[in-house]
Amino acid sequence: MRFYVNVDHVATVRQARRTDEPDPVAAAVACERAGADGITVHLREDRRHIQDEDLHRLCAAIATTLNLELATADDIVGIASELRPHQATFVPERREEITTEGGLDLTAAAGKPDPKLVAAIATLKDVGIRVSLFIDPDGESIQRAAELRVDAVELHTGEYANRFRDSDAPLERLARAAVEAKAAGLAVHAGHGLTYQNTGPVASIREIEELSIGHSVVSRSIMVGMESAVSEMRALIAAARVD
Ligand code: PXP
Repeated sequence: MRFYVNVDHVATVRQARRTDEPDPVAAAVACERAGADGITVHLREDRRHIQDEDLHRLCAAIATTLNLELATADDIVGIASELRPHQATFVPERREEITTEGGLDLTAAAGKPDPKLVAAIATLKDVGIRVSLFIDPDGESIQRAAELRVDAVELHTGEYANRFRDSDAPLERLARAAVEAKAAGLAVHAGHGLTYQNTGPVASIREIEELSIGHSVVSRSIMVGMESAVSEMRALIAAARVD
């Protein structure tokens, strides 16, 4: 299973003072030293954490692969097609949200695919970028994602993360969705809200091949340093994985 670390919140701390520390690029390199398989960042339209310059520096500095999260805004899609990260994950984006709250709504009016999303997928695939869609773990979203001929889906683990202490239902839903997505020919990723407490059960779902984890790892890195925070999560994922 691949473990990607999302370093957005290193940039959040820097942007709190609009200074040059802590540096998300240095953090990304530390993640790699500790065994991360890749780095995830979200270039938001409001640039609240990662800046354009960070992206350029990340592309030059990291030795693993970059997963760029983005919405379908033309200028951001343009930046992605110019920088050509290994992977792009389309996410919904609303300015007023604290974090990405739900998966993509893959339908526009009349149940047709969102034309902006269709065009953005084509633009990125044309330049050889692997494309993933961040979706809720439900059958309809999975079928629509498969129809859009993307390479992968990232299943939103937010509901699971919010309820994992109270109910097994969200984990069962994730497991069913993972089986369904794989059967539809999609690579299966997962993320959002995963922590040192709740990642194990998700990592044990065999169909899931990639996890993207940010806030919890960056939070722990404040207490123990980035390399230890990443190795602890890496070990936890490995322990949960039987294959
Ligand atoms: N995956 C996606 C698509 C996201 O939008 C985010 C948050 O930026 C994450 C994973 C990481 O979520 P968290 O920071 O809660 O681990």
